[in-house]
Amino acid sequence: MVSVFKPQIEQLAAYKPPLDGRDPARYTLLDFNERTIPVGDHIKQALVDFIHSDRLQMYPAYGDITQQLADYCQVQEPQVMITNGSDHGIELIIRAVGGVGDDAIIPGPTFAIYGQVATVEGMSIVAPDYRKGEGYPVQQVLAAITDRTKIIVAASPNNPCGTAISNEQIAQLAKAAPNAGILVDECYFEYTRTSATALLAQFDNIFITRTFSKTWGLPSLRFGYVLSTANNITRLLAMRGPYDINQLAVVAAKAALEKPEYVDDYIAEVMGQSKPKLEAFLTEHDIEFWPTTANYILTFPPQPEALKQALQAAGILVRPRVDSEGRQGLRITFGTLPQTERLMAAMAEFFAR
Ligand SMILES: Cc1ncc(COP(=O)(O)O)c(C=O)c1O
Repeated sequence: MVSVFKPQIEQLAAYKPPLDGRDPARYTLLDFNERTIPVGDHIKQALVDFIHSDRLQMYPAYGDITQQLADYCQVQEPQVMITNGSDHGIELIIRAVGGVGDDAIIPGPTFAIYGQVATVEGMSIVAPDYRKGEGYPVQQVLAAITDRTKIIVAASPNNPCGTAISNEQIAQLAKAAPNAGILVDECYFEYTRTSATALLAQFDNIFITRTFSKTWGLPSLRFGYVLSTANNITRLLAMRGPYDINQLAVVAAKAALEKPEYVDDYIAEVMGQSKPKLEAFLTEHDIEFWPTTANYILTFPPQPEALKQALQAAGILVRPRVDSEGRQGLRITFGTLPQTERLMAAMAEFFAR
């Protein structure tokens, strides 16, 4: 059959996360690293008010959202570009810097979108392994850098293993590969509160992506942003469409930024209480897990598939993920304290069988 597609697209399959049947009324959703409770009423009200303002027939106008984000991130306004979720920022950055004949260094296992976009652009993927307890594989990445390297992914923390990268290591990468974009994915920034923004004054090749999908609880609306040097943002804006970001996403993000306490309270519960509780439980039950800085944990229980099904029967969804050797594990999102207690009770019941 004749195909009009680039050969590398012929080889690709769609990235299809298991979204079917994720009913929050039926299940506690510990499978997608989302906020596990609804957002505050002020955000819902802002959306309703916008709908009633009779502006849906107009193209979006984004107002001062980039200034609000710049203040939040403590950078200058020209260093910010809003995107349709951070996937969109990741895509624009990779498309902007890489093409056929170039390499993308993407340590794995990791989030699928980097590899998908690099492949579409015709790049070859070099994939050093994350290993438990060893942090970002910086030496392997440095050793893999060549003249062909155009993108290096530094997800911080990485999904699914929760491993962070230090600013010293990011600086090492930026120095070692000055002709490559260093893509620092800070999707889970608010859980770690560590950021590479301080490096933007020093390096021209660092791109940070962030999102309102995780801590802020708005993945359905698709809102993210990129932070980089003002020059880089000018270039990326030349690639982005003027209306790529939904107006309702901006309305919700503005409302969220005006009253961010709902995020702080949630983070305190999830990271301060649920995370140590679940880690202690796993240790007590001799279940291997990777050290994590995020709102999720990669675990290796003895019968992962059976445990996943038992949890599902108990009304809790978790996500199967593999390590770099292909060993099957379960990635579990930390929820609120009552959700974590329910999870531990269901797990304890399974282990007692
Ligand atoms: C590391 C990482 N980056 C980016 C994303 C995508 O986020 P968004 O919803 O902003 O596109 C995810 C979502 O799971 C992720 O885990």
